[in-house]
Amino acid sequence: MKKIKILAIVGSLRKDSLNRQLALAAKDIIGDRADFEILEYADVPLMNEDIEFPATEPVKRVREKVKEADGIWFFSPEYNHFFSGVLKNLIDWLSRPVSDEEPYVLYGKPAAVSGISLGMSGTGIAQDHLVTLISFLNMDVMNVPRVTIPNATEQLDDRGKLALTESYPFLEEQANALMDFVQRRVKDGD
Ligand SMILES: Cc1cc2nc3c(=O)[nH]c(=O)nc-3n(C[C@H](O)[C@H](O)[C@H](O)COP(=O)(O)O)c2cc1C
Repeated sequence: MKKIKILAIVGSLRKDSLNRQLALAAKDIIGDRADFEILEYADVPLMNEDIEFPATEPVKRVREKVKEADGIWFFSPEYNHFFSGVLKNLIDWLSRPVSDEEPYVLYGKPAAVSGISLGMSGTGIAQDHLVTLISFLNMDVMNVPRVTIPNATEQLDDRGKLALTESYPFLEEQANALMDFVQRRVKDGD
């Protein structure tokens, strides 16, 4: 069986982002069971139909990364009970057809959603909005299990890094479920 590819999309561009650290913890859990890469997209321009065709290099690159992936794992912060503007901008680009022949790259892609926040919602409210959007785009969403981590400051070590004491088993459970979810679809597609 071919090694599956998981592409992590982190909805925060912050260098020390907790959601990026969560994605890195997920990468460790998955280990060599899959190729796991975090998508870099800080250079993707703001959506503007005036610059849609021909696609700019950053847009072409992120579309290619999504196209190559067997599954997408979103790690979303919560901004004002919503997901971030940078993530919405990226998804808007990924939601547009590549050409007359090719549909948009998110179509039918297996997806999972996780997130960590300082507040009590643990990004659950943002995740609900994100799931509404990616379902509208006909992504194949794994709705359970989802990981929502509240009160992030309680899970940091002395240096302020994410230690994931309590939440680790939940992340592990979701990683295993996503591997299974994606593998089944890859097998069905063969
Ligand atoms: C504009 C903005 C709005 C925020 N709104 C929320 C919120 O609604 N709920 C929450 O739990 N945290 C909120 N926060 C705090 C974030 O949880 C915190 O900054 C978190 O570290 C962001 O994720 P990151 O570490 O991956 O960048 C907000 C932060 C910003 C910058």
